[in-house]
Amino acid sequence: MNVQGLTGARVLLGVSGGIAAYKAAELVRRLGDAGAEVRVVLTANAARFVTALTFQALSGNPVRSSLWDESAEAAMSHIELARWADEVLIAPASADCIARLAHGHADDLLTTICLASAAAVSVAPAMNQQMWAHAATQANLALLRERGVRVFGPGSGSQACGDIGAGRLLEAGAIVAELIAARGPRALAGLNFLVSAGPTYEDIDPVRFIGNRSSGRMGFAIAEAAAQQGAAVTLIAGPVALATPAGMTRVDVRSAREMRDAVLAQAARNDVFVSAAAVADFRPQIMAPQKLKKTGGALELSLVQNPDILAEVAALPQRPFLVGFAAETENVEEYARAKLERKRLDLIAANQVGAGLGFEQGDNALLLLWPGGGREQLARADKRDLARRLVARIGEQWRAAREHT
Ligand code: CTP
Repeated sequence: MNVQGLTGARVLLGVSGGIAAYKAAELVRRLGDAGAEVRVVLTANAARFVTALTFQALSGNPVRSSLWDESAEAAMSHIELARWADEVLIAPASADCIARLAHGHADDLLTTICLASAAAVSVAPAMNQQMWAHAATQANLALLRERGVRVFGPGSGSQACGDIGAGRLLEAGAIVAELIAARGPRALAGLNFLVSAGPTYEDIDPVRFIGNRSSGRMGFAIAEAAAQQGAAVTLIAGPVALATPAGMTRVDVRSAREMRDAVLAQAARNDVFVSAAAVADFRPQIMAPQKLKKTGGALELSLVQNPDILAEVAALPQRPFLVGFAAETENVEEYARAKLERKRLDLIAANQVGAGLGFEQGDNALLLLWPGGGREQLARADKRDLARRLVARIGEQWRAAREHT
């Protein structure tokens, strides 16, 4: 393990109630050894098992345990504490604490901070094996995972209550190692990333449009993963119902032509352009100024081709590193390789669509191809996992391309 793997990290350690709370004292030491600055919040129940004094001495910072402590609030309010943290780590996380986090409670200091913080949240559960196995606990954890909360452990073995099974708090060293691994190297610090995402809508008349089934989730996940790796991200979003991930600039557009203008305005000042948007290839030649009425017969729509945004960026004198997507229903590798060459891309992410794959799905699988015969298959996974791996590959290829020139 890299002993300084948390250099500069501001870790807010939440300790919830349970017999394993005493092990959090060792965790404070280990976090400090790894280079982190640590502040500790005890829940009211944790304070029945351990004292604030221990944690204050070990962390070198005041320990908070109540929302209603006036002098502590005056020194550093809970909102300031929430903003201060770049990691929230809850260890041990009791079944009750996990349930309250899952349901967005904010009735004590720790849960309020979790809601008020943009920091990554990790939980290291510790509880009786039966409580761990309970469907309610597992459903709560699934909800938290879906929101990007990391879950470290638990381990299994003999428990304080005499049972044997899963639910033991991971050892302090293992929790620190998991945290370092989860943060990953911030490989993209200093890079500017432009990402397009979502569908485009091409208006037929004031109430109708031609669109497609892209949810935008893949592009948003890529933007999020790039920002987490330290890149400065601009996200150009088509019409989607998604919240902006933390730490980026978002520009909303509707049609392919609006997206083209937004992308071209940004392209030259970016190092990488990831074109994840499902741009409509065609638009109605004219948008009817009034709602089209039924005439009893067929309606003929004349469609014209939209600009190819990726091709326009590829033609720029100072083009960024270009990443395109290819959604194919057959011969995925062959068609994607041809598209990589035809569009003069630096990398293409190909996926099979249709039959429950691709659009509107929470997970996906990607085949990455780059010039010179390079390829990497990313197995079917949650789009956020996939995005992290794709962004890591983009970083590597970007560096290789830069060394080459
Ligand atoms: N794209 C774009 N502008 C368009 C259409 C597509 O920038 N008007 C981008 C997409 O964001 C994607 C890539 O081009 O990254 C591939 O899109 P696709 O429509 O599959 O490519 P085409 O070259 O149109 O190939 P085909 O229709 O033959 O599959």
